[in-house]
Formats: sequence, structure tokens, C-alpha cells
Amino acid sequence: MNIRRLRAGDAPAYRELMLKAYARHPQAFTSSVNERAALPINWWESRLGSRLDVLLGAFVDQALVGIVGLALEPREKARHKALLFGMYVDEAHLRHGLGYQLLQAALEEARRHPFLRLVQLTVTAGNEPAIRLYQRCGFALYGLEPMAIRMGDEYLDKIHMWLEL
Ligand SMILES: CC(C)(COP(=O)(O)OP(=O)(O)OC[C@H]1O[C@@H](n2cnc3c(N)ncnc32)[C@H](O)[C@@H]1OP(=O)(O)O)[C@@H](O)C(=O)NCCC(=O)NCCS
Repeated sequence: MNIRRLRAGDAPAYRELMLKAYARHPQAFTSSVNERAALPINWWESRLGSRLDVLLGAFVDQALVGIVGLALEPREKARHKALLFGMYVDEAHLRHGLGYQLLQAALEEARRHPFLRLVQLTVTAGNEPAIRLYQRCGFALYGLEPMAIRMGDEYLDKIHMWLEL
């Protein structure tokens, strides 16, 4: 397994993995599979080419099997904060420590930016595997957003977590 930053050429694999993530774990993500599947490939390419988003991928036998993103803030007064997003590990590779290693790689990336002081994330209430992983890596809860996402007739809360670098 190796972890590296994704490039524009990884866009097809990135798209395929994220569409799988949105389809299999609709409660875990705010984007829906239908709205993301409708986007052209250059949307995915530009995300990978963005100056403000860093996407890290875990590869096993050259296949992309895990992902995490770090979004930087362009505004001067918020540049000390980064947002961790889009964390996913493919079913066949769960519980092998990939999630932990991806998270560590994202935190190493964050520490390379001297102006960054903290990383924030949101996680749907009840997503225990993800909450446990974030807590194990040092993230602490700082708030609860009621009715953060709607799934049909059901509303789900989001837990807000942060880690001081
Ligand atoms: C959350 C998620 C990324 C975790 O990925 P993962 O690769 O399974 O994470 P890890 O392997 O590092 O840790 C998961 C568990 O496996 C255990 N584990 C790690 N290595 C292990 C090994 N070699 N043998 C057995 N268990 C192991 C960990 O201790 C951890 O256990 P715990 O949940 O009881 O604390 C994954 O479950 C996922 O993609 N979920 C769906 C999408 C999602 O919810 N994303 C988060 C959005 S906020």
C-alpha cells in the first residue's frame, strides 16, 4: 500500500471510487451519487488540480482503494483552518489500518503548511467507525449540527470535530 497525492490523471479512478462511496454510504456524505455522477470528468480533474484542495489516495496493487481530502481556506482571516473531507476506504480493504494511515498522511500534509493551526471535519452522528477513527487520531468534538442532512423523510445530525496541529 502506498499513499500519494492524486493528480489530474487520477480523475477517472477518483470519480469511480467516490461514486461508489456516495452510493454505498449515503448517510456519510452530503453530496448525493446522482448529483456527482452528472458532473463531467473535467469537474473531477479540476478538483485534483485545485490549489486549495489536496486529495490523497491509498493505492494497493496500483488500484485506488482509499481517499481523503484536505481543503485549505483562501480568506486571510481563516487561513489557519483546514477542512478534512471525503474520507473513504473501499469495502475490501476495511479494518486494515488504511483509514488511519490516510488520516495521518492528511495531518502530515497539514503540518507542512506553516500557517495552518487546526483541522476541522464533520461526521454524521451514528457513524461510529468514522468517529472512533477520528478520536483515535486526536480529533475532539466541539459541536453538533442538528438536521444537517436530509435523507428522504429523515434528518441526520452532524458532529463537528477539530484537532489542533
Ligand atoms: C471510516 C473508514 C474510512 C475507516 O476506514 P478503515 O480503513 O477501516 O480504518 P482503520 O482500518 O484505520 O480502522 C478501522 C478499525 O479497524 C481496526 N484495525 C485496523 N487495522 C487492523 C488490523 N490489521 N486488523 C484488525 N483490525 C484492524 C481499527 O482498530 C479500527 O477499529 P475500531 O473501529 O474498532 O476502532 C471506513 O469505515 C469508511 O470508508 N466508511 C464509509 C465512509 C465514511 O463513513 N467515511 C467518513 C465520512 S466522515
